[in-house]
Amino acid sequence: MANGYRPEIVQRAFVDFIGSRLHPFWSLTTPKLRLLARYEMSDDLIALQFETNQAFRQQIFKGTDDWKGGQYLDLRVFIDGVYHQRSYSIVGLANQPLWWQDDAVITETAKSKRHAVTIAIKPQGLVSNYLTKQLPLFSIVDTSMPLGDFTLAQAKTSLDHRGPDNQKLNPLLFVAGGSGITPMLGLITQALANGHQVALLHYNRTELPQLQHQWQQLSDIHPTFSYHFIHTDNPTTYLADERYLSAEGLLSLNLPLADTQIFACGSQALSAGLYKAVNEISVLQNIQLRDNIIVENFGNALTDFDGDGNQLLDNALQTESHTVYLRSRQRQFDSDTTLLVAAENASIRLAYGCRQGICQLCRCNKMSGVVKNIQTGKISSDGYESIQTCINIAMTDVVLDI
Ligand code: FES
Repeated sequence: MANGYRPEIVQRAFVDFIGSRLHPFWSLTTPKLRLLARYEMSDDLIALQFETNQAFRQQIFKGTDDWKGGQYLDLRVFIDGVYHQRSYSIVGLANQPLWWQDDAVITETAKSKRHAVTIAIKPQGLVSNYLTKQLPLFSIVDTSMPLGDFTLAQAKTSLDHRGPDNQKLNPLLFVAGGSGITPMLGLITQALANGHQVALLHYNRTELPQLQHQWQQLSDIHPTFSYHFIHTDNPTTYLADERYLSAEGLLSLNLPLADTQIFACGSQALSAGLYKAVNEISVLQNIQLRDNIIVENFGNALTDFDGDGNQLLDNALQTESHTVYLRSRQRQFDSDTTLLVAAENASIRLAYGCRQGICQLCRCNKMSGVVKNIQTGKISSDGYESIQTCINIAMTDVVLDI
């Protein structure tokens, strides 16, 4: 019976159950992390290094692929009777030594056998503060496997349609604001190894000497890499004399922008500034740049669950408030989070199923207004189109055909 059904004599789930009773880190199926060390990357950015368990390693390393630069992990932690789930960027690649590793307290096992993964956290909010300040060393947390499409694969597919030149490697521009720099390390290392020309713009409120040293070393090795660190309180670092991202700043980089893929990770304001700048350049040069932008938004995993696994309302995913009008029902509500959650906060029931962008049950037609898809980062046009309310937030006032 070469291809037939083969019952497992001992179910993996049963082995897992027994194993986890013997040791909570042990599992054949559930990826888990054990906290090894913390490292202060800057005043407001802490790196956490974790040892990975057997299940994580088996799933991630069963190919030769490891994780991709730019991916993130969803960590699930239990605080005061509530499960909280948050997304955090993975810093670097599986085989990439990080600049502080010699100083950190890392077990030899984790160091030598690729058993470690590092994430970066800005200590703000309940979960981030807990992870960076309270979680004792060697504690165990549940994790997803690496997730996310904010990877170089997107650069390839989005530029492939451009005709006979599609084999050439297009330049890449990475734009980061504050802690948005964390996914860039793995991405940039991969991009340079693949032979891309790479430019990095990093806007931050404080100096980051160690990180800047890293970028300098990288540019010494790769002449095709240039980086610009903009300390927002130090005018001598500004691009084209502008404190924030501007069309003049982008043009001063002398990149062939029409062929440049732009990866951005940072605040809503940074994304808005980037879109405004490329719109200005598009009009000025009569080229279409908007589709060259990929924005990281960490899926929509900012979700909490109570001890029984019920999903709590997502209060972490908030943005500037706008008004949403339901044309047929003649109702309106203010929205500073996903359209679905905002409607429910205003006691208005909208159709939904999975609440994760999968089932399409929440899909409806937008008559006007701009929305942003929090899974892909895409900003919509201002006109009529079909959208999912569970994964879109309002960037302007919006009218829905509901
Ligand atoms: S509720 Fe399932 S896609 Fe929105």
